[in-house]
This record gives sequence, structure tokens and C-alpha cells, in this order.
Amino acid sequence: MPGKTPEKAELRFGEKSWELPVLKGSAGDIALDIRSLRKQSGMVVFDPGLANTACCASRICFVDGEKGRLFYRGYPVEYLVENHEFVEVAYLLVHSRLPDPDERLRFSKLLNRHSLIHEDMQHFFRNYPEGAHPMAILSAMVVSLSTFYPELEASAEEEIDVTVTRLLSKLRTIAAFSYKKSVGEAFVYPSHRLKYCENLLNMMFSSPVVDYQLDPVVVRTLDRVLTLHADHGQNCSTTTMRTVGSAGANLYASVAAAICALWGDLHGGANQAVVDMLERIAADGGNVERAVEDAKSGDRSRRLMGFGHRVYKAYDPRARIAKKLYHDLARHLELDDPLHEIAVRLEEKALTDPYFTERGLYPNVDFYTGLIFRAIGVPRDMFTVMFALGRLPGWIAHWLEQYSSTERRIVRPRQLYVGPDPRPHRTSPS
Ligand code: CMC
Repeated sequence: MPGKTPEKAELRFGEKSWELPVLKGSAGDIALDIRSLRKQSGMVVFDPGLANTACCASRICFVDGEKGRLFYRGYPVEYLVENHEFVEVAYLLVHSRLPDPDERLRFSKLLNRHSLIHEDMQHFFRNYPEGAHPMAILSAMVVSLSTFYPELEASAEEEIDVTVTRLLSKLRTIAAFSYKKSVGEAFVYPSHRLKYCENLLNMMFSSPVVDYQLDPVVVRTLDRVLTLHADHGQNCSTTTMRTVGSAGANLYASVAAAICALWGDLHGGANQAVVDMLERIAADGGNVERAVEDAKSGDRSRRLMGFGHRVYKAYDPRARIAKKLYHDLARHLELDDPLHEIAVRLEEKALTDPYFTERGLYPNVDFYTGLIFRAIGVPRDMFTVMFALGRLPGWIAHWLEQYSSTERRIVRPRQLYVGPDPRPHRTSPS
């Protein structure tokens, strides 16, 4: 729970006034506690998009939007990306501490043990039409997991580890199988010899006839990109996860709902939308000036994808890391992607335009990650699946935090009704 401050805020309306407690977060954020407001005054607060509403108190992630900084459980994301693997970061988010060597080994063994999906579930893949979007398959398969595996019932660390590793490991297998289904190739099973990202790449890109050559730079880049996505406070999908979980829905159902929320192109789907946009600009002769002018028109469909953020009004620290990862990878792979140069020019143009600087619109994490996935050979409709794999530990950590909280309440916001008055109507005879 956030700390209560001795000060109270006073709200006045007409002749009346009310006192409201003021709360303080551990990073100095101040919040007006309006829980008693309706009882005292009859008023609700109006905040479409929950743009200025703290829906919960959380210890998992701190996003400093003004300074452009991000911390998972107190560690700066830059430190974690540089020094720890995604699996360790997942452990950190769930258990609030980095694993010691024994815990790391045990976690890896569990990831291996749970990597296969039930043979019966494989039949489900066959019935999806060709070209089915992998995000749809991913969500449906995750909710189906609840029919094969038990719900989390206790909060003992061991049981949490089993459930968490089962989800982390199986989501990766489902993601790879969704890809294989979409290209009509045979499934490749996970291997105990390979680490988390090696396994993912191998299941996606090797085939019964051709081995995939794992490139350590590609593996490490993908691992780092997953870490960049691992959590981000109350983003749309995490809030969806908490909302669904608040009603008592199980972990699998809550993750399936979060995957659907992530799919939208204002959220995780932006990585796919960025590459679509860059291709449109390339088809327009690389005219980034026109793209920037269009984006300023106020027409939502012409916004610069991969730009802007609800919380960051400074450069997104994840975008800074992703940009460097992309440039390093492009150099290593000796890439000659025409979209690379367009992305760089588009960023430069937008960052010197007052429309963008005055509104604090900078590249966000999705601006360069789409190009990274493209460089690795991930097909476009799998980009958001990659984001989902990365965000999974954050979703789980938030679900668990809420599950074990004594303050858990069903998420049930109010609305400001603006519809018709009760209308005259005839009661039909029974
Ligand atoms: N291009 C052009 N103008 C923009 C953009 C953009 N990408 N983003 C915001 N604006 C303008 C917007 O038109 C508004 O202008 P005005 O004040 O004149 O009305 C102002 O900036 C504030 O925008 P907003 O819509 O109030 O911002 P929001 O906090 O509601 O939306 C956002 C945040 C991320 C949805 C939005 O910036 C956007 O649509 N970006 C493009 C999609 C995108 O890249 N999404 C990925 C987000 S990061 C990864 C993740 O968390 O999923």
C-alpha cells in the first residue's frame, strides 16, 4: 500500500467542501485518494482512457515518464538488458529478486520440463484456416491450456514456479507452432539442449530436413528484446489482465485476454504497424517529409506508428536500447534493408519538428523492434507474438500481486450516463 501523508486535499463545489487523503508512492508520486468521494459528495471522477487514474498500488515496475527511465523491481532496464538473461528477468518480476545459481538452475529445469504442449492440443492447430493470425491462435490456445492443466491454488513459491514456467515455456512452443501452422510446415519440438531463445528460434526456423544455424548475436539480441518488453506498469494489456483476474478468472484466461488487448495497433500491434508504415513511405519514394506532415493532420489513421506514449514525455529508454540493438545487429548481419535508412530519416525529421517536440512525442519501443524482428527473419504477423512472449512475466507478476493482495476488489468503474431519459413504454400482456 502507498504511504498516507499527513496533508489532506480540499475539494470545493458550490457551498460545500470535502477533505480527501493524499497518498505518496515510493518514487514520490502523489495521488489523491478519492475512494470516499462518492460517499461524501455523490460525485464520481471522469477520466476517459484512465489517463490520470492509478488503478492499483504496485511494487513491480516504475516508469518515470518525465525522465525517460524504467525500472523492474528497482533495477534499471539498461542494467538488466546488459547483465541478465530474459529468464532471470522473468524470475525477478515474479519473485521480486534475481535468482541465485541454484534457483536459476531449478527454474531452467522446470522450463524444460514444461516445454511440450499436450499432444491433444496439437490437433487444435490443424483446424485453423490458412492465414489465421498467430495472435488469435495464441490467445485461443492459452485459454485452452486451462482445460488441460490445473489452476494455481496456493501461493507457495514452488507451486508458483511450476505454473509460471509452464506458461512461459508453453507460450513459446505455442508461438512457434502458430508460425509453423501459418507457413504450412511440420512442427519442430522443443529441445532440452537449448536455452529459452535458442529453442524459440530453432522451433520456428528449423525443419525436419534443414537445421537452423543458431547465431549467438541473433539469440542474444532476441533475448534482450524480450527483456525490454518484460513489464511496463499499467499498460492496456496488463490492466486487462488485472481486470479479468479481479473477477476471479484463472491465470490462463487472464493471459488470453491480455494477449487480445496487446494485439491492437495502438499497443503491441504497433511493431507490425511501424514496418507497414515504413513500407508505405518506401513506396512513396522514401518521402519522410510527407509522412511527418500527414501525421500532423490530426487524422488518427495517419499517425506516426512507433511514436508517442501515454506516460513517456521524454525518449523511451526501451527505444534507445532497441535502436542500438538494431544498428549492432544490422552491422553484424551486413543487412541492406531500405527501411533502415527510412526509419533513421523519419526519426530525425520528427524530432526536429515542433509538433512532435512540443507534445513530447518520441520513438517508443515499437519503432525499432519491428525492424529487429524483420532482420531476424520473423514474419510480420508474428511481431506482436514476440512482444507477448516478452510481456508474459510482467502479466503474471501483476496477476500474482493482485491475487495475493488483501485489498483485491473487482475492477468495476463507473460511467457518466448521457443517454435518453426513461421513455414511455407499453408493458406487453403476459
Ligand atoms: N503521431 C502523430 N501525433 C500523435 C501521435 C503520433 N504517433 N501520438 C500522439 N499524437 C498527438 C495527438 O494527436 C495529440 O495531439 P493534440 O494534442 O493536438 O490533440 C497529442 O499527440 C496527444 O496524443 P493522445 O492521443 O492524447 O495520446 P495518448 O496518450 O492517448 O496515446 C499512444 C498514446 C501511444 C496511443 C499514441 O501516441 C499513438 O497513437 N501512437 C502511435 C501508436 C504506437 O506507437 N503505439 C505503441 C505505444 S508503446 C508500446 C506499448 O505500450 O504498447
